Amino acid sequence: MGAFPAGFLWGAATAAHQVEGGNVNSDCWALEHAAPSLFAEPSGDAADHYHRFAEDIAIVADLGLNAWRFSIEWARIEPEPGFYSMAALDHYRRCIDACRAREVAAVVTFHHFTQPRWMARLGGFGAADFPARFADYCSCAARALEGMAAACTINELNLPLVAGRYFHDRVSPAARAAEAALGAPLSSFFLFSDEAAILGQGLAAHAAARAAIGAERPGVPVGMTLAISEEDAGPGAEALRDARRERLYAPFLDAAAGDDFVGVQTYSRTVSRADGGAGPARGAVLTTMGWEDRPEALGAVCRWLSARWSIPIMVTENGYPGEDDSRRAAFIATAVEGLAEAIAQGADVRGYFYWSLLDNFEWLLGFGQRFGLVAVDRATQRRTVKPSAATLGTLVRAAGTAGTKGAGLPLIGPSGAHRD
Ligand code: BGC
Repeated sequence: MGAFPAGFLWGAATAAHQVEGGNVNSDCWALEHAAPSLFAEPSGDAADHYHRFAEDIAIVADLGLNAWRFSIEWARIEPEPGFYSMAALDHYRRCIDACRAREVAAVVTFHHFTQPRWMARLGGFGAADFPARFADYCSCAARALEGMAAACTINELNLPLVAGRYFHDRVSPAARAAEAALGAPLSSFFLFSDEAAILGQGLAAHAAARAAIGAERPGVPVGMTLAISEEDAGPGAEALRDARRERLYAPFLDAAAGDDFVGVQTYSRTVSRADGGAGPARGAVLTTMGWEDRPEALGAVCRWLSARWSIPIMVTENGYPGEDDSRRAAFIATAVEGLAEAIAQGADVRGYFYWSLLDNFEWLLGFGQRFGLVAVDRATQRRTVKPSAATLGTLVRAAGTAGTKGAGLPLIGPSGAHRD
């Protein structure tokens, strides 16, 4: 596998609310505790990563990975509008210091689905001043967080468009309780945001955050991440497939054109059908999430994206949900091979982050879905590294590009100029 450029980031990803535990001031926590709740179970202590981050970063380093993607929690950093917690910022500074001590590049996401309850009450992404409020928080956090290797503004900004129907279909019985718990319409919670809010305030918030982070940390590459499925077409459905691409991805990729990178998050394939439906290929093997088991999707997405947009790609998420860890190992090997082929064909890919480092809280579905390279015993919080993690480590060694550890960063200059 000679395709991977020197300094390529090989990592694993997590998100604050899914692993930290005790994120009590967030809108998601409020929704989890509504009765009845849209959530299968509450996040509770999750993987207690807030206290065990050093152990988890050590696992990343011991696996031979040179990068870790994690998110910082707005609800902890700005618990009330304009009031910033120095203790929370210190915590995340310690996370970055722990990465640097192990020569692990810290890729920091500023918004991964959750926000302070007060922001939800003001309307979330639907609020006219969301971009300004988000950018203020990003400025303050970026000022405090020296040593980030790269910054992701908003995780999967396009997800409410991609998966909106899935979330709304689950809503009706518990919607009223959810809105009472939140003190706001459900559309104030990111996953239920209106399309217009995402395309308006969401894209504006990304641009404002990019400028805010860039002003505090010039030289740190900044981008947003997007949920991008491999899009395919059944007989006679080519135009429907193309229409999906234009609606779900193109406006975001056009907006990302000047960014230092775009985070690609690919799990599977969606096949458009002539009857107007779209879903897994007929007869396909499905994962526990109900997605087609399709590791080849990653290379296909990188090829498609690179053919039209010349934005450097960071694969910020790709992973396999399921109990079968040998299948996970095979999935990773095939996905990485597809990525190597895409790079050989000209795709400009700067990193690969497996989702997720830990088995964690899969939002409305609770803890039943297992994406992790590492199992977590929820009674004891004991971590057990799975064999698939060793597979990823072996692939990284074979690629021979992680030797620079995090030291060679930033890989991408602030103007988008590439360092080869
Ligand atoms: C999200 C993660 C989520 C994963 C698996 C992505 O949509 O960024 O938070 O756990 O996919 O569903």
